[in-house]
Amino acid sequence: MSAPNSDFDPVEVAALQPAALERHVAEAVAAFATAADLESLAAARSAHLGDRSPIALARREIGALPPAAKAETGKRVNAARVEAQAAYDSRLEVLTAERDARVLAEQRVDVTMPVGRGRVGARHPLTLLSERVEDVFVGLGWQVAEGPEVEHEWFNFDALNFGGDHPARELQDTLAVGPEEAHLVLRTHTSPVQIRSLLTREPPVFVICPGRVYRADTLDATHLPVFRQVEGLAVDRGLTMAHLRGTLDAFAAEMFGPGLRTRLRANYFPFTEPSAEMDLQCFVCHGASALPGGEPCRTCSSEGWIEWGGCGMVHPNVLRAAGLDPEVYSGFAFGIGLDRTMMFRNGLVDLRDVLDGDVRFSLPYGAGLAGEV
Ligand code: FA5
Ligand code: MG
Repeated sequence: MSAPNSDFDPVEVAALQPAALERHVAEAVAAFATAADLESLAAARSAHLGDRSPIALARREIGALPPAAKAETGKRVNAARVEAQAAYDSRLEVLTAERDARVLAEQRVDVTMPVGRGRVGARHPLTLLSERVEDVFVGLGWQVAEGPEVEHEWFNFDALNFGGDHPARELQDTLAVGPEEAHLVLRTHTSPVQIRSLLTREPPVFVICPGRVYRADTLDATHLPVFRQVEGLAVDRGLTMAHLRGTLDAFAAEMFGPGLRTRLRANYFPFTEPSAEMDLQCFVCHGASALPGGEPCRTCSSEGWIEWGGCGMVHPNVLRAAGLDPEVYSGFAFGIGLDRTMMFRNGLVDLRDVLDGDVRFSLPYGAGLAGEV
């Protein structure tokens, strides 16, 4: 840069000539206006407003002018800079707004998009039903009892009045565990819990025991080798068959809705006397054996009744095995199939579904049962 010189005419300095300045401004304005995005606008800014831009270089020349020329030339150069800067600012505003709008559109969350759902499990419907049965009886003042699934033969058979060589032992196909001399079996019914309860409690005893039982039954639509029963046992002074009947009717009403009756049909179990098979009035035709349109009821094969479980008055020998005097105490017991109960309640056609472990089976049944509690 040269020193101030009184003879120096600014118009002679090419960079400071008004026409040159106008051209620089026009080029800057055009460059900013045609910048398509923020990146090219930044490049145009450094070319037209940066330290080495024509306008910045012109500004440097002002220092070399004679004082008289400085003010006017300075104003002119400044006006050029302000005009170029304003063109840049307005373009920057437009391009920034465009960028923001685009980012917003690209990052918009589409709430209707299907999401990758993790599979949710469900509690098994039989577990829920089992808990519901417990709730019903706890509500009547009964207690919940438990027993082992690997059971000693004495509890599963002997104490229940099955004689040593009694053919009744073959009523149920039993799965033995370990060597014969261990006398361990997978319990074939929940009735051994009757004995365990009587040995650990003083009458009055009112217990319910839902649990798994095992039989060498062939798997089909109505039979499982592993299924669930609910045992009920009441022992007190003066209990009669009427109490059994009333309890079963109340239980049936809780399971299947009010108005369904139970029927006792003479049967044989070594541990009850008298014994009965417990039938439930068909929950579809309500005992009418036919549907309103006149067609036969397929659910109960037009019997009007379906088998639900076994029951009876506790055999005196069972009371004796538990150390109770049959002259003082009497009692009733029942054992119903929980899988069958679910079949009746939920219109399940094939019991094998309860063993598959398919969550599609558990979810809707579970929701239905949970909703009722
Ligand atoms: C008994 O197991 C007796 N312990 C019931 C009992 C208890 C009688 C107390 C008297 C006093 P039963 O073998 O009939 O009885 O079985 C009872 C119920 O279990 C049947 O009515 C049926 O609902 C269910 N059940 C039996 N076998 C199967 C099976 N393979 N699959 C599914 N449910 C079954
Ligand atoms: Mg039976």
